Amino acid sequence: MLSYQHAFHAGNHADVIKHLCWIGVINALKKKDKPFTLFDTHAGAGTYDLTDDLSSKNKEYESGISRLLGQGDGSAATENQASENKSTEGLSRLLNDYLSLCEPFLAQQQYPGSPAISARAKRGIDTLHLMELHPGEFLKLEKNVSRLRTGHSHVHKRDGYEGLRALTPPKPNRGAILIDPPYERANEYTDLVKGVDQVLKRWQQAQIVVWYPLLSERAGAKSGASEVMCDKLAELGRPCFKAEICVAENTPDAGMYGSGVFVLNPPWQLDIGLDSALTNVVEMLGVNEAGFHATAHVTWVNEDS
Ligand SMILES: C[S@@+](CC[C@H](N)C(=O)[O-])C[C@H]1O[C@@H](n2cnc3c(N)ncnc32)[C@H](O)[C@@H]1O
Repeated sequence: MLSYQHAFHAGNHADVIKHLCWIGVINALKKKDKPFTLFDTHAGAGTYDLTDDLSSKNKEYESGISRLLGQGDGSAATENQASENKSTEGLSRLLNDYLSLCEPFLAQQQYPGSPAISARAKRGIDTLHLMELHPGEFLKLEKNVSRLRTGHSHVHKRDGYEGLRALTPPKPNRGAILIDPPYERANEYTDLVKGVDQVLKRWQQAQIVVWYPLLSERAGAKSGASEVMCDKLAELGRPCFKAEICVAENTPDAGMYGSGVFVLNPPWQLDIGLDSALTNVVEMLGVNEAGFHATAHVTWVNEDS
């Protein structure tokens, strides 16, 4: 059963860490002239109208992207600048790139989902494959991607892992995968590990970003499931690190108190760029209504040798 709709959560703290990391991966791929291929296994609707009934229900963007607004210098990094960690404003270069990409969307009261982020961050020579299974979300995705007018972008109404099996390894053999499931069903955690294991057997160089929620006891059996999943991903033996952001204390009733990204085969120095960006982000997010100050950390799980 597919009932998850990302519009309820568009632009929240979880989108911030996920999309920052994904832009960091794309920036690193752009350092070489050769084309690359991006795969988004759980694409969602592509862009989100922050004024519609779903996004405006809980206004989750208000405690996420809205707190970061007006902080960028409005310019995307050049490829040379992207190798530095600070923008001219002293803001993390990666955070500045993310804010510069988001600003035109936010000016129209929209938030760019991962398909829009990829479409705007990639070059004309690079290819994008977007997979989405929910019929309603797929229709929105098709429409939103065509509005973005980006070349070499393909939308697929298919299961994300099946799509990966069918479409990888790409030619040329450079690229990255974003895996961002809704985690509605308990077996989505094990399906993900199986999907990553299978794709790495076919495409060893794939850079893979997995987003995961941090859930308190209130989530029942799902509490702790992300931690077990990360342990299983680490057992695949690839260089990997994780970055997490916490926006509330992990009390039994907290629900989703934060989230993380687990990055396999990460590009050189993404950990440093992301750490610098998240340091800025937690300062800007500040405290929640209960007085908890946001925290973030980046931790290597299997060091690159
Ligand atoms: C968290 S949302 C994606 C958000 C998007 N990645 C972003 O950052 O803007 C997860 C999406 O996965 C879709 N989905 C669920 N199971 C799927 C599957 N097996 N294959 C492809 N899409 C799936 C859901 O319909 C939902 O739209």
